Amino acid sequence: MIDKLNEILKHEWTGVAQYSQAAFVVTGLWREVYNEIFLESAKESFGHARTIGQKIAALGGVPTIERNQVKQTDDLYEMLQNALEFESKAVQLYQEVLSMADGKNRPLVVLLEEILLEEQDGVDQFTMILKDPAVAAQAKGGSATKAG
Ligand SMILES: [Fe+2]
Repeated sequence: MIDKLNEILKHEWTGVAQYSQAAFVVTGLWREVYNEIFLESAKESFGHARTIGQKIAALGGVPTIERNQVKQTDDLYEMLQNALEFESKAVQLYQEVLSMADGKNRPLVVLLEEILLEEQDGVDQFTMILKDPAVAAQAKGGSATKAG
């Protein structure tokens, strides 16, 4: 259980860095909109990291300080695709840990379900934004993605 929660914490730390960087570098007419959206997403990831990290410690574990590789790009369309991928992975991870906690630790289930709803909101939000043809038209063809 603690290992799975740490896998989640690692994902949330990745979100803090990935969304923050996207907010810093996003350019163009829609910067005002997406700078705010990405910063809010970074804050949400930090909020989840805070809750999960605290819970890991309460369960007797050591909260990880590691994160996964951040997807970096200067292309808005790719940023949004990365965001959708990130939120989808979060939904998957929270569902996995929920199936472990189910029937064993009711308060933990409640805590995780609350976060799961927020992750699903993220999936819904980025899915709907990506349906905008104006956003899709900004795609440069995928060459701008850098791993780091
Ligand atoms: Fe999260």
